[in-house]
Amino acid sequence: MDNLIQAALEVRKLAHAPFSRFKVGAAIEDEKGRVFTGCNVENATYGLTICAERVAVFKAISEGAAKLKRVAVVADTDDPTPPCGACRQILWEFCGDAELIMANLAGKQETTTIKQIFPRPFDASFL
Ligand code: THU
Repeated sequence: MDNLIQAALEVRKLAHAPFSRFKVGAAIEDEKGRVFTGCNVENATYGLTICAERVAVFKAISEGAAKLKRVAVVADTDDPTPPCGACRQILWEFCGDAELIMANLAGKQETTTIKQIFPRPFDASFL
């Protein structure tokens, strides 16, 4: 199995999701092959919940990753789960060129790109 999917599967077990019970794991690989992982962390206020993908991106950036090349997202759904809108915006900012692998626990997977799932983005080019 792809090491990035494996990392996302592992970190998913750490998800703090007592409210939705929907656990998500994400893993991101940089240009040096370093892997950064994240799980969703929910909050009793609901709105302060942060998704697995954003945790992984922020960990990568805060640990000095420069180029983010591949992203994997794993959830327990029939069809592989795509990143939410907020995560797409963040993923675009830091890894617009990245490959995106979405997988479920049964091993079903789909590969696309961040660019593909986030057409016509607002970004720094408009500022
Ligand atoms: N969630 C993620 O972590 N990533 C996604 O791509 C979709 C949603 C989380 C947020 C919340 O904790 C739970 O899944 C249900 O929405």
